[in-house]
Amino acid sequence: VLRLSLSSAVLSGPAAAERLGAALCEMGTRSAFVACGPLTHATPIAQGVRESLRAAGIRVAEGVRGSAVPTIADAEALAREIAGAGADVVVAIGGGSAIDVAKVALIALAEGAPVERHAVSYVPGTPPVMPRLAATKLPLVAVPTTFSGSEGNGSGLMRGGMVRYTRSFRDDGVAPSIVVLDPLAGRDQDRAMTVASALNAVAHGVDVLYSRARTPLSDALATESLRRMLDALPRLSLAPDDAAARTEAQWASLLAGYAIRNAYVGVHHAIAHALVSVGGIPHRVAHAVLLPATIAWHLAHLPPAEARRLAERLPDGWERTIPAAARETGLPPSLRAAGLSETALERVADDAFHDRGTGNEILPISRDDILTILAHAWNRHARRAPMEQTANR
Ligand SMILES: [Fe+2]
Repeated sequence: VLRLSLSSAVLSGPAAAERLGAALCEMGTRSAFVACGPLTHATPIAQGVRESLRAAGIRVAEGVRGSAVPTIADAEALAREIAGAGADVVVAIGGGSAIDVAKVALIALAEGAPVERHAVSYVPGTPPVMPRLAATKLPLVAVPTTFSGSEGNGSGLMRGGMVRYTRSFRDDGVAPSIVVLDPLAGRDQDRAMTVASALNAVAHGVDVLYSRARTPLSDALATESLRRMLDALPRLSLAPDDAAARTEAQWASLLAGYAIRNAYVGVHHAIAHALVSVGGIPHRVAHAVLLPATIAWHLAHLPPAEARRLAERLPDGWERTIPAAARETGLPPSLRAAGLSETALERVADDAFHDRGTGNEILPISRDDILTILAHAWNRHARRAPMEQTANR
């Protein structure tokens, strides 16, 4: 059964956040819990959201907690704060971590703690087991400040808990019911962070194209997302506060988030998740290095018709556009340059093999396949040396 899952409402464009209060008021909201990290809390977008809610007569409670790598304990603590506030909607402002932790908090609130028992479980070689999460959740509003795609689906990733692998939660009941795409969001972030986050969205589009759960719907969402993000990328790498480019990239991120909701991610993300757990490499940083390695591996190993389909759906010039944006913004050119030791590769491969993204591929992927991709990404040539001066010839 193909179930089409998209958000119910999107507010987009300049001053979108200012319209949020009125939109929530129409839905009968009287009290909102606004969750964000301490850095986001002081930004104009967060101020705009709070003012919009208050102007609409909505009572605002705030939870300011930040963790670049959110844990199950963070989500349970946030659930207790939300319960204490008695809110009837939660507004998460921030990147993937902030939105993910809000989703898992809402699962904890409705389904009960410990929340870890509601995580998806996956054993390599077998289908993932999705727990049935039937309790009604509080509605979630997402105001993304990055291009994480978390705004487009009900997935949340957490560390901590009983196992060392990244835990994934999945519940369409916590997929944001309103998404606010305001070009003001995240425009204070620097070029490297902006480009790294855009490449995270590119990786979502690419992963979906070789997902075993892919459908014409997820293909269409991923292809359009890739087209828009590759178009915005050169402009974002020059000026991350370019409002038109941010709007384009925000839509690309949302489309990729919807694509994930309908097909989930693959081995590229399994490796990226393991790089966080084992190497402490932030999620968004790995993609500039991993993308050329994972795309090359898939083009070489997919059955010919699938490889052709993947090649046709990658926007023209991706081989140049992606490394150029990474190089121009100073992102590391290899996993080695990102600080990962060679001895850590085996552990990264082991964790990635146990991530359910690996089991979501069209092709069966072995631990050795992952090591091949990792070796390519670890050892990629360092930044190309500047062209030799030829003036003295
Ligand atoms: Fe991602």
